[in-house]
Amino acid sequence: TVPLSSLAIAAYSRLGSRQRASAIAVPPFHVPLPIPPILQPTRTDNSTDYYEIIQKEGQVEILPGLRTPIWGYDGIFPGPTITARRGRQVVIRQRNKLSVPVVVHLHGGKTPPESDGYPTDLILPADSNYAATAHEGHATVGGIGYGFKDYTYPNEQPSATLWYHDHRDMFTGAQVYRGLAGFYLIHDAIEDELPLPKGDKDVPLMISDHIFNEDGSFFYPSVDPTLHEEGIEDGYHQGVQGDTILVNGAPFPFLELSNTRYRFRLLNASNRRIYKLALDPPPPERAAFIQIGSDAGLLPAPVPQTELIIAPAERFDVVIDFSHYAIGTQVVLKNLDGNHTTSQVMRFDVVRSQPDDSAIPDRLLPDEEALNPAQAEVTRRVILSRSGKRFRINGKEFAPNRVEFRPCLNSTEIWEVFADIPHPFHMHLAHFQVLSRNNQNPASTDVGWKDTVRVGPREMVRIIARFTPYRGKFIYHCHMLEHEDLGMMDNFEVV
Ligand code: C2O
Ligand code: CU
Repeated sequence: TVPLSSLAIAAYSRLGSRQRASAIAVPPFHVPLPIPPILQPTRTDNSTDYYEIIQKEGQVEILPGLRTPIWGYDGIFPGPTITARRGRQVVIRQRNKLSVPVVVHLHGGKTPPESDGYPTDLILPADSNYAATAHEGHATVGGIGYGFKDYTYPNEQPSATLWYHDHRDMFTGAQVYRGLAGFYLIHDAIEDELPLPKGDKDVPLMISDHIFNEDGSFFYPSVDPTLHEEGIEDGYHQGVQGDTILVNGAPFPFLELSNTRYRFRLLNASNRRIYKLALDPPPPERAAFIQIGSDAGLLPAPVPQTELIIAPAERFDVVIDFSHYAIGTQVVLKNLDGNHTTSQVMRFDVVRSQPDDSAIPDRLLPDEEALNPAQAEVTRRVILSRSGKRFRINGKEFAPNRVEFRPCLNSTEIWEVFADIPHPFHMHLAHFQVLSRNNQNPASTDVGWKDTVRVGPREMVRIIARFTPYRGKFIYHCHMLEHEDLGMMDNFEVV
C-alpha cells in the first residue's frame, strides 16, 4: 500500500503547476475594496433559515484586465457572507459542482459533529458516478454527501466573526487557496444594543496572499518557493506564501471613507502567512486599533492596540477612528513583517467629513467570564513539530481513526501547546482563553475567547478550554494549511 504521506505530496505536485511563476507587478491602491454579497435564504420558518450554495468554478477579475479561474462558493471569491442570529438555526445545502470532493467547515462554530466538516466527510462531485447512481434522494450515507450535503448550524453562541472554508483531508491548502472561503457573521441582541459603527461602517476584511501566473491564473507551488529562492532545489512544502496580498479578493485595494469610526472584522485567510498589521501614518498620540472582539466574540471591554500580529484563521474585531486624520489623508494598512511586495495590505482614503453617532462603550459585555485554572480537570501536552517533509503532533501524523484525547462533556482543561517553528493552533468546538506564553503573561492581543492561537518558534502557549456543548469526535490542528494537510492534525472525542 502507498503511505498516506506520499499521497499527500503527490497531490500537491498534481494540483500545483510546475512552471515557476513570475511575480506580476500590481500597482497598489488601484482597485476599490469589494464587499462580499450577503447571501439571501431560499426560505425561512420560525426556527430556521435555509440557504443553498453551489460550489463551482468561476472566472474573476483580480488583476486588472486578466481573468483568474477560481473555485468558489457560488463561483465567487470570497464566497457570499452568511449572516445568522444567535439562537436561530441555519441549514446550508452545499452542492458540489466542482470536479473534486469537498468538505465545508464553519470555523469558530459550535457545531454538532455530523455538520462540523470532518476532513473525510466528503461531498462527492455532483457529476461523478458516485452521485449519479442509486443515491438519488439520499443526501448522505454515513458522513458522505453524494452531490450535496446539508450542514446544520445551531448558532447557540454569542455574536462573532466566523468563516467557512474547505476542509478536505490532505487538500485543504490547495482548495482554500483556489477560493473556497467566506464570512459567516453571528449577530445577537447584546451587539445590537451597542453604539458601535454599523451598516456600511462595519466592514469584513479577508486577507490572503497569492502568487499569479502571467495569464492571471493562481500559481500554486508543488514545493516551497521560498526555499527555491534560497537556492535549495529540492524544497519541500512548508506552506505557500504569496507575493500579492488580496483583501476580499482584490489586490492591495483602497477604501474611500468618511472621517468617522469604522469597525473592521479582520480575518487572516492566508494558507501560511502571519501579518503584523499597523497603520501608516499612525493616528497622533493614540493607538491605531481599538480591539473590541476576538475569534469567538466581543471582548468584555475594548483594548487599544498599536500592532496586531494575526496568524492564519485568527480574527480581530477592531474599530479605527478616522476623525484623528485630516480629510485627504491616505492611511496605509501596513504589514510590518512583509518584504518589498507584502509590506502593505490596503489603503484607507479619508475623503469626506460626516457626523458620527457611533461610540465605543467602556463595557461591551454585561459580565466577563474568565475560566479558572483551578477548575481544570486535566492538563495535556500538544507538541507541534516538523519532521522532514511532514508535520506531526506529539510525534504522530493525522489518522482519522486514532483518538488522542477524550475530554468529558462540559469539562474544562488546560492544554500546553509547544511549537518548534510558528504554528497557529486551532481547536474545533472548544473555545479557549490564553493563560500564558512561555510561562509569562499572554500578549495584549491574546484577550477574549479564541479558537485559534499563534504559537511562536520554541514557544509554549498555555490555554484553558471548555468542551461544550456536543459529544463526538472533533479535530485540532495547525492552521497553516499545508502543515495540516501534511499531518499536523489530530482527533479528540468529547465523551
Ligand atoms: Cu479553519 Cu479545522 O479549520
Ligand atoms: Cu504549522
